[in-house]
Amino acid sequence: MADFIKHPVVELPDRKPEPVFGPDELVFSEDEKAQVKTWISRYPTADGAIMRGLWLAQEKFGFLPPEVIQLVADEIGIPYANAYGVATFYTQYFKEKKGTYVLDVCTCFSCQLCGGFDMLHYLEEKLGVHKGETTPDGDFTIQEAECLGACGSAPMLQITNGPFVHNLTEEKIDALVDALREGQMPAFTSVTLPQDEDELGGNRRTDVSATDTYSVRPVSETVR
Ligand code: FES
Repeated sequence: MADFIKHPVVELPDRKPEPVFGPDELVFSEDEKAQVKTWISRYPTADGAIMRGLWLAQEKFGFLPPEVIQLVADEIGIPYANAYGVATFYTQYFKEKKGTYVLDVCTCFSCQLCGGFDMLHYLEEKLGVHKGETTPDGDFTIQEAECLGACGSAPMLQITNGPFVHNLTEEKIDALVDALREGQMPAFTSVTLPQDEDELGGNRRTDVSATDTYSVRPVSETVR
């Protein structure tokens, strides 16, 4: 069986898993409810607030099992199916529990040509799990990601919907895993999302001098 069939890029979530959270836990605080209300007021219809509502819930509960998606839908006042459709469309919303760090390795076109699959397979071997799986100690989940908008510094990965690591090499992956195991973010991570650049007064890329792959473009082992 082809590898991509055994390990598809997007895993369909179980539609009726056992609930993880009990009714007592499934509540938003008054403050969270007020935030949701504010977001709803900014859109012509309430469903405009769904993405922020799901994000709020993910930050609170860690992931979005059906009962949490239902909580968000109820708070916003939209059908469950609409909330479920948004939550399952975006891979950034976690439908099941993940590791402390989620490493999204981009294997889209530019990253693929520059060794994205080499980096993914290196990481899988290093951590002893396949993409879509979490290490037994709960520290890392590996995922394969579509283009994350940093093609100019391929191959790259993203750490838990946050910092990027550009111009990946095996040495960088080693250093990244070591640092994260110590609870540290290595110096060569960066944030290139426009809102972060505004907030921080410029691109926070710190790894320009950390690798020669800025001047010598890496090439995929597979393509070579
Ligand atoms: S192809 Fe990897 S970031 Fe665009």
